[in-house]
Amino acid sequence: MLYFLVGFMGSGKSHMGRRLAKQLGIPWVDMDKEIERAEGRTINDIFAESGEDYFRQLERDYLLQLDKDQDLIVATGGGAPCFYDNMKTMNEKGRTLYLNRKKEVVIAQLMKGLHRRPLLKGKTQEQVMEYYDAVMKERRPYYEQATIFVEELNYLDIAQMISSGWL
Ligand code: S3P
Repeated sequence: MLYFLVGFMGSGKSHMGRRLAKQLGIPWVDMDKEIERAEGRTINDIFAESGEDYFRQLERDYLLQLDKDQDLIVATGGGAPCFYDNMKTMNEKGRTLYLNRKKEVVIAQLMKGLHRRPLLKGKTQEQVMEYYDAVMKERRPYYEQATIFVEELNYLDIAQMISSGWL
């Protein structure tokens, strides 16, 4: 089964992916890293040199080529579910888990690594909060199409749901 972790930047998708994979003994990938590897350049460079639309196409292509008959956890990029019909694709190919973490936790996390995220580069904390409010409004309806909402990063509970076949 494919398990897609979705949610805003800084919501802990990679962290959760790594933990779940270890607990369940199945592989995981970070979609951004896979895209960087395939392109031979960083997300920052892809945005700067080829633009966001191109990056969104790469995300789309990545999801489309995934073989649904495999056990894999995919930590998606924060915007991936909100472009094309990616949410539908993910829900058809596997299960989606929405990491719905508290705004304050997300903002604190984001402030630690602004330089890694082209959409946040150079912003102050106040601007990041404004960005969060505006973008979350657009993105929430997509995230909320997920199979399950995860409020806290209790990976043991999630792993249990998966291994018992409930999810
Ligand atoms: C993005 C989130 C990033 C990365 C890119 C765009 C977004 O992934 O895909 O910078 O649009 O929210 P993370 O959610 O892993 O930071």
